[in-house]
Order: sequence, then structure tokens, then C-alpha cells
Amino acid sequence: MSTPLDRKSSTDEIRARFDSDVERFSSLETGQSATIDAPLAMRLITDAAVACTQPIRRVLDLGCGAGNNALMLRQAVGHDLDIDLLDLSEPMLQRATERVKQVNAGRVNAVSGDFRQVDLEAESYDVVLAAAVLHHLRDDGDWLAAFEKLYAIVAPGGGVWITDLVWHETSAVQDMMWSRYAGYLDALGGESYREHVFEYIDREDSPRPVTYQLDLLRQVGFTRVELLHKNVCFAAFGAVKDK
Ligand SMILES: C[S@@+](CC[C@H](N)C(=O)[O-])C[C@H]1O[C@@H](n2cnc3c(N)ncnc32)[C@H](O)[C@@H]1O
Repeated sequence: MSTPLDRKSSTDEIRARFDSDVERFSSLETGQSATIDAPLAMRLITDAAVACTQPIRRVLDLGCGAGNNALMLRQAVGHDLDIDLLDLSEPMLQRATERVKQVNAGRVNAVSGDFRQVDLEAESYDVVLAAAVLHHLRDDGDWLAAFEKLYAIVAPGGGVWITDLVWHETSAVQDMMWSRYAGYLDALGGESYREHVFEYIDREDSPRPVTYQLDLLRQVGFTRVELLHKNVCFAAFGAVKDK
């Protein structure tokens, strides 16, 4: 990663990119193809949320994009939910709201803004889903504040479930994994596609190791933390809040 944190894309630039990228996030079957194991990771956080918290009534899909994760959770629970869809991007929120309302007769509320700044009620969600969004957090203070907020908004007995691009603690391991990811992107779309993906990751993203994030989940108060899956530089994990 060559771009320093203080020269990464601003929140407005990130919003603008996602405003014009709605279609890519609108397939429940494939998820986002640049992500290794996207459908499996989505399935695992859905199933873990359902396995760990009963009943589920109130859900936040943080960085919802076009709503894939809320949709899959609604399918899995088999009953209506109160769902808050939160995203920076209005076009993403519009698509997510349309899609979720088609299958969910419960309350569907679109919350527009930056998760770090939006007011959310304490202990108000049985499940918080954060898929492919936390890699936009920047310095240690930003990560800690965001994880503290995640802990605060989850109800006792509820869970937070995350999928994301992750980094590694050791540069040799990071290089090894990055080269494997390069091979995956080459096979998917060729060299120019790989360069395109690597360029926007470098400009926009500041992922942290999954080990760092598991530690952070414990640090902010979760006592039960789970790594569900990791393949190359993508992981699915989460935590359950004590009752
Ligand atoms: C890579 S997409 C993932 C969308 C969806 N979660 C999925 O898995 O298909 C990331 C989404 O997070 C949103 N986002 C990025 N930073 C955010 C922030 N600080 N607060 C709220 N949403 C954010 C973007 O607008 C974008 O729609």
C-alpha cells in the first residue's frame, strides 16, 4: 500500500465512487466478484447471526450498498424485520431500500451518512452487519472509535458480523497473500482489471489485519469473538455481546 493515510480518498470521494457503482453490488448470488469467497462469507455471517441471536427483530446493515446482506439475513430468518440500511451513497440506499422492501414487510429505514457521525441509539440492534465497509476506517483512533460504537449499538445477546478485505501483521505474509490475490484477479479479468482493482484499493482503502480486529472486538467489550473464515486477504468474523 503506497498511499499514506492522510492522502487516501476523502469520504466525499468514496461516496462519489460508490454512487456510480450500484450495479456491481446488486447480485445476491455472486456478491462482489473482486472479493474472494464473497458468497460464502455472506452466507457465514448470515448463518452465524441467526445461530447466535434469537429472536432477531432489529437489524443494521452498515455500509449496506445495494442491500445484499440485509436481504440474505431476511431470507434466513424467514420473518419480517425492522431494518436500518446505512450508507454514504444515496443511489446505493435507494437500490437497497427498493430491494429490501420487496421481501420485507417490516420497517425499512434508510439512514444516509457516515457511520462514524450518524447518531444511533445504544443497544438498539439484535444484529449489526458490516460487509466490505470497515476497510475505509483510517488511523488507530478511527478504528477504536468505530468498534466502540459497534459495541454500544448492539443489544445484549446480539452480534456484530463483519466481512472484509484484511491486511497481515507480517510484511512477508502480506506480500505472499497479495501475490495470490493478484493471481485471482488476473484469472477473473486479466492484468488491466487487476491493476484497476489494486489502484482503487491503494487510493481508497486502509484495511487492518483480522487479528487486529479480533483484538479490537475484545478490547471494546465483546467476550465471545469468532473467526468464521479467512482466505488470502478476505475474512468473515464477528462477536456476540453478553446478555
Ligand atoms: C464495498 S461496498 C459494500 C456494500 C455491501 N455491504 C455489500 O457487501 O455488498 C461499501 C459500501 O460502504 C459504504 N461506505 C463506505 N464508507 C462508509 C461510511 N463511513 N459510512 C457509511 N457507509 C460507508 C459505501 O458507500 C459502499 O456502499
